[in-house]
Amino acid sequence: MFDVNTIRKDFPILSRQVNGKPLVYLDSGATAQKPECVIEAVNRMHREQNANIHRGVHHLSEEATSMYEAARERVREFIGAAAREEVIFTAGATASINTVAYAWGEEFLHSGDNIIVSEMEHHSNIVPWQLIAQRKGAELRVLPFDDEGRLMIEKLDELLDTRTRMVAVTQASNTLGTRPDLKTIIDKAHSVDAVVMVDGCQGVVHGGVDVQALDCDFYAFSGHKLYAPTGIGVLYGKQSLLEQMPPFLCGGDMVDRVSFERTTYAPLPLKFEAGTANFVGAIGLGEAVGYLQTLDLKAVEEYERDLTAYATELLSAIDGLKIYGTTEDKCSIVSFNVEGVHPYDMGMILDKLGIAVRTGQHCAEPVMTHYGVTGMCRASMAMYNTREEIEALHRGVERAVRMLR
Ligand code: ALA
Repeated sequence: MFDVNTIRKDFPILSRQVNGKPLVYLDSGATAQKPECVIEAVNRMHREQNANIHRGVHHLSEEATSMYEAARERVREFIGAAAREEVIFTAGATASINTVAYAWGEEFLHSGDNIIVSEMEHHSNIVPWQLIAQRKGAELRVLPFDDEGRLMIEKLDELLDTRTRMVAVTQASNTLGTRPDLKTIIDKAHSVDAVVMVDGCQGVVHGGVDVQALDCDFYAFSGHKLYAPTGIGVLYGKQSLLEQMPPFLCGGDMVDRVSFERTTYAPLPLKFEAGTANFVGAIGLGEAVGYLQTLDLKAVEEYERDLTAYATELLSAIDGLKIYGTTEDKCSIVSFNVEGVHPYDMGMILDKLGIAVRTGQHCAEPVMTHYGVTGMCRASMAMYNTREEIEALHRGVERAVRMLR
């Protein structure tokens, strides 16, 4: 049984006040709060177990190394990867996608090829592809969405051809909440031998993933949106592809033998983990995954779905308020604007009431361009939010509208 009050007790920050009001944190899409067990794991690591990994025969180094590798195994199991070699720790989803764009692009992309990205991508799943396409003389094509925020998958057939090498798409839009039909996209891409990069940042935390069942070729997410520390993320890639890709960042740990004449590389996954890894972050991520595994994730998803429906119902009753992204199966993200009210002004008034929402372009300027706006307010809910908080948001927006109109 899912009980939000029990969950809330695990997140110490939720009991603090902001501007003299109880914190209503509705910005989990930007970064999620951390449960006590993650905070404690990070503290314990620094207090008792800190030593560099893969680099020493001394006790602490071996202990830290085995904890790091245990975290990798937890993540592997959580995302359904076939092998530990396919789970690479990075600094975050942005680093993961850049690694693929550079290293996969270096090996597999040629002049005259094309890459397809969706119109609803976060900048992190657009710009790396734009750069590699420019370097290689490839074309960037865009799969559009309609005004409801539905990705127009039927248009994929017009964009895909035998020179399509990559389709880059989100599991859940950070602005619209839309969850595209990934299975269909992946099947279509594979039918022309293109590979698929899935940005799982918002998706992994709202419903999880099974990368083998999905059959995506690459999958990226950030730890900090999954209740883990910042500065740690994951790149999943099919082993056969990762084996063929050259390294991206180079330095310690990713090498086998080094001489001035020739260097050989470490086997996967270390080939893509140059330098001292963020082992503390990885261990924190392993702890966050372990925490999630104690919960009924189906019940969590159901609870978040209910919160989203409630927020949509209350907010859309406000005169002049428009919600962007209204697809049936969206994740717990509600972006909106109110006629005549600037999103920054709305965000600042809500902040005075202790309510944290994100305002601006949400690192998805093409989505703003689609709707002809310069910014939006975004409430992004997590499993620790309550219906009372949604009511507080509703009251706050009404109050802001009264003040600002
Ligand atoms: N990409 C994060 C967001 O959507 C920061 O807010």
